[in-house]
Amino acid sequence: MSETSGQATEILLPSSTVALFSRDQETLVAARDIENDWRFARVKLHVEEGDVLTATEAYKEISSPELIIIQTEMIDDSLAGQLEDLAEHCDEGTSAIVIGPDNDVSLYRNLIDMGVSDYIVKPVDTQIMADIIAKTMIEKIGVTGSRLIAFLGAKGGVGTSSLVQAAAWGISDIMEQKTIIIDVGGGWSTLGVGMGFEPSTTLREAVLAAENNDEDNLKRMLFDASDKLCVLASGGDVMLESSVTSDQIECLIDMLMVKYPVVIADLSHAPPELEKAVVTRANQVIVVSTPTLPSLRLSRSLIQEVKDIRGGNDDGIEMVVNMQGLAEVSEVEKSDIEIAMDREVSTIIPFAASVFIDAENKGKKLIGDKEGEKIVKTALLPIVSKVIDGEVLKSGEDSDDEESGILGGFLNKFKAK
Ligand SMILES: Nc1ncnc2c1ncn2[C@@H]1O[C@H](COP(=O)(O)OP(=O)(O)OP(=O)(O)O)[C@@H](O)[C@H]1O
Ligand SMILES: [Mg+2]
Repeated sequence: MSETSGQATEILLPSSTVALFSRDQETLVAARDIENDWRFARVKLHVEEGDVLTATEAYKEISSPELIIIQTEMIDDSLAGQLEDLAEHCDEGTSAIVIGPDNDVSLYRNLIDMGVSDYIVKPVDTQIMADIIAKTMIEKIGVTGSRLIAFLGAKGGVGTSSLVQAAAWGISDIMEQKTIIIDVGGGWSTLGVGMGFEPSTTLREAVLAAENNDEDNLKRMLFDASDKLCVLASGGDVMLESSVTSDQIECLIDMLMVKYPVVIADLSHAPPELEKAVVTRANQVIVVSTPTLPSLRLSRSLIQEVKDIRGGNDDGIEMVVNMQGLAEVSEVEKSDIEIAMDREVSTIIPFAASVFIDAENKGKKLIGDKEGEKIVKTALLPIVSKVIDGEVLKSGEDSDDEESGILGGFLNKFKAK
């Protein structure tokens, strides 16, 4: 009954929750296969063997997702009552799609009148299911963009790349957001050491693939650190020449942002023109310094420049002080840093050689260590979640707006009775 345009849904879907209840093995397998669809990286999909009654029982206990898909074999007068009962136990704004056995126009009309968003006739393969969910979620929530987070060192060696990796592991493993890291430093990249891969490509090759819109080639250049964290396996570039332009790096970022909810750019050792391009585009710029005078002095000028580039706006600029305690006697206190910088320090990270250097040398993730996990959770995630959570919130606001629209109607129509 539903016609979806694959073209219109070929984008990374907004963060959302979807549940499917079916007793049809083919449908269950098709739904579980959606996990492999890149568009669904931010969609939490719950697939359960069951029917409308199972769903009703479930939502007596827990809050309902944004979209419920129910498959039913039984199309008779009791279906309307059961759907009504389900709606009673769903949260405001929950939409419903029904999968049924017959191509029956009057049934379709009745269900739509009841507030059901769509009626689909089985069999439903993975492609159809994915397109229908995509279409529904886009209409319901709208398309929200991915996030670009740039880490910029005030000075060399302040720990920028280490914090990039630590934050990436936290965002992917703990916040469960599909994330990609790119090192804009080209031949100066040390990511391979910390993330445990041999550079198999160059930043130049990657930007050329992006310019040619060659997704397959670009895909081959990625190293999967886990199922949610991926790294551009570059680093083979020449070191003493810059071979990538700012337009090219933007083109690569554009391409990655279509598929990854979070793109993290390591700007330590990147040429200034590329730093500028990324800083201009980024949703968040994290400036890393140590608590020592030379680094703080550069931070002050750097943050001012970043602010100017971003139209004089301070939003999204964060200052992280790393390696506190490395040289205690010559370090500046947090309160003095804040007075001198005329801004708040977002977080202070202690010098913890056993955690950072050990993780780096062994190519292990920082959050694999208790102390490392604590640093990530308490110092880094609160900062990045300002931009990543913001997006989730926005989705919620959008969905509220939609409640009076076509797709939010499932519940409202029942509740209005
Ligand atoms: N908080 C910390 N405690 C202890 N060691 C740290 C800390 N942060 C980073 N390091 C270590 O400091 C060294 C330099 O870190 P890293 O390579 O991340 O710095 P960088 O700023 O990216 O350097 P570059 O300017 O060369 O790109 C690494 O050996 C790393 O393990
Ligand atoms: Mg670095």
